[in-house]
Amino acid sequence: MIGFFDSGFGGLTVMKEYLKRYPEFDYMYLGDQANYPYGPHSQERIEKLTLAGVGYLVEQGCELIIVACNTASAEALRAVQEKYQGKPVILGVLVPTAQEALKQSRFGNVGLIATRSTVDSGKYERELENYTEFYQPKDKRAREKVKLYSQACPLLVPLIEEGLIKHPATRMILRNYLRPLKNAHVDTLILGCTHYPLLQKEINRMMGKNCRVISSSEASVEAIADYFEKHPELLEKLSKNGVRRYLTTDSPERFAALGGQFLGQKIEVERVEYE
Ligand code: DGL
Repeated sequence: MIGFFDSGFGGLTVMKEYLKRYPEFDYMYLGDQANYPYGPHSQERIEKLTLAGVGYLVEQGCELIIVACNTASAEALRAVQEKYQGKPVILGVLVPTAQEALKQSRFGNVGLIATRSTVDSGKYERELENYTEFYQPKDKRAREKVKLYSQACPLLVPLIEEGLIKHPATRMILRNYLRPLKNAHVDTLILGCTHYPLLQKEINRMMGKNCRVISSSEASVEAIADYFEKHPELLEKLSKNGVRRYLTTDSPERFAALGGQFLGQKIEVERVEYE
């Protein structure tokens, strides 16, 4: 079974990509809505909550766990990986997203929109530096090293969770957040938050056709295809009965309404408690 951990329902954007590509697998999604949003929490708190949520998925027997939340990946992935030492395999979303941005960048001006916590963690800068070999620009104007322009967008997650995706207020706020990145002429923009793919059409439109928009959801599923190629034993081990379970630490009704709307189908949601 593949487990997904997220602070809320936004990680469904990641799971949706997996469902499209690998419908045969069994999936368990856990959204820690009782403690949502993670974006404004301290690193210590995010680490504690992520260890607890991932621990629950491990107990349920997941053989592969994706920390779908960018904030949890930035602040807590190392701690969970150190704790479980590859048993089960636990992967985050930052590395594949940073690698994809490096591959796509034409002249090295990369933008990031994310929660405040992800921006402040500096982890995207770090991963862009860790994988410089992926940056092979063909453009004459190209910088030698990628420069990251980051913009924290704390208002976007609540607007999306409230279902205001097409609301004019959301459009206005989004335009304000994107303005400095447009002014910096970013050629590639990282959507460094689970929720932002829900605004992707609008973001594409506002950034214009010269900017490539990279979503961590798509980058994650692309990376897992490579991972399965390198680790066929994991692919073998994963159970394949088409099971889907959706778990939340808060109201199942709210999760089912928003999550179901987003996945385009009615979903049954269970409430869980763990320490
Ligand atoms: N899932 C979080 C992320 O991807 C956004 C929501 C939150 O702040 O918890 O960064």
